[in-house]
Amino acid sequence: MSDPAGKVSLTGIKPTGEVHLGNLVGAIRPALRLAEQYDSLYFIADYHALTTIRDADLLRHYSRSVAASWLAAGLDPERTTFYVQSDVPEIFELSWVLSCVTGKGLMNRAHAYKAARDRNVAAGDDPDAGVNMGLYNYPVLMAADILIMETDVVPVGKDQMQHVEYAADIAGSFNHLFGDKYTFKIPKGVIPESGAGDVLPGLDGRKMSKSYDNTIPLFLPENKLKKLVRRIPTDSTPVEAPKDPDSSAPFQILRQFAPESAADVVADTRKRLEAGGMGWGELKNVLFEVLNTELAPMRERYEAYMEPGSELDEVLARGAERARERASRVLSGVRRAVGAR
Ligand code: ADP
Ligand code: TRP
Repeated sequence: MSDPAGKVSLTGIKPTGEVHLGNLVGAIRPALRLAEQYDSLYFIADYHALTTIRDADLLRHYSRSVAASWLAAGLDPERTTFYVQSDVPEIFELSWVLSCVTGKGLMNRAHAYKAARDRNVAAGDDPDAGVNMGLYNYPVLMAADILIMETDVVPVGKDQMQHVEYAADIAGSFNHLFGDKYTFKIPKGVIPESGAGDVLPGLDGRKMSKSYDNTIPLFLPENKLKKLVRRIPTDSTPVEAPKDPDSSAPFQILRQFAPESAADVVADTRKRLEAGGMGWGELKNVLFEVLNTELAPMRERYEAYMEPGSELDEVLARGAERARERASRVLSGVRRAVGAR
């Protein structure tokens, strides 16, 4: 990654479910590490979630719960500008301007829209069946999120790289047309090192993901956490037999999740599995202990943030104020450049 000094890192978090262990390892921890080096802005992309969530209470709940999870996991709202997208109306105004310099063909090739079309065609339906304009325009709104904050780098998962490249393209089109009056900074996507290796497996051994309904949510009560850990699949190798730790889901979760302070436990568990004599049941006990030790203090902070009237709302209101200050500066430049009054 390029030299972070004085550079802006921004990412959006779509509130479509409860935060799970995979999100912590693959997104939250790496983003918190980047926040130590960059000038960072992280936000809850609730209007992106509106393309699929049609229940006001549910969208409100997920927005709060995802924000509370990031704060509980250690996001420092003094250091990072932390806000909710729908609190920053400037983004949506810019989104319109950007849509006027974006080729429709570019949107036709965006992967989420293309996947929906391909599914429809395969099912013999109208290609655009069930596709709303929010899904179609999704990448333009995302470009507005990014460009309005004068972002240098955008940490994202692989699946979002195309959208960041689109944001760079769209900035280029705008600069080509209006660059003598206002110039957008060209953002770059980065896939942050999780430091943990591959994707975290879920309760069925596939990638842990909301879409597979196989997640371990971060902030379960202790007894529920224990129950879910018991459900992680293992094979029928007997207790005494030597085992390959790296092909077992509970060990992979342990290895990827364990904080530095539990490195010895991981190394010792690996040795014992390889030597034979440690059964899957005992491995799951070890995993539960490591998870619970790390998550218990976070869970307490999470629950405090989730109380009605907690400081969560103030934190987000302060974040929105900072974000709007920044966004309105850029938006006035854009308005002037295109000839809006
Ligand atoms: P989900 O697959 O549960 O819907 P998202 O697509 O919302 O999760 O992912 C949000 C972030 O969390 C992305 O940066 C993604 O790379 C990361 N992430 C999600 N699941 C995992 C996983 N199983 N292992 C590692 N990182 C993950
Ligand atoms: N589209 C992203 C996702 O589905 C979320 C997002 C919205 C985002 N706006 C963004 C990510 C801007 C990075 C930058 O995960």
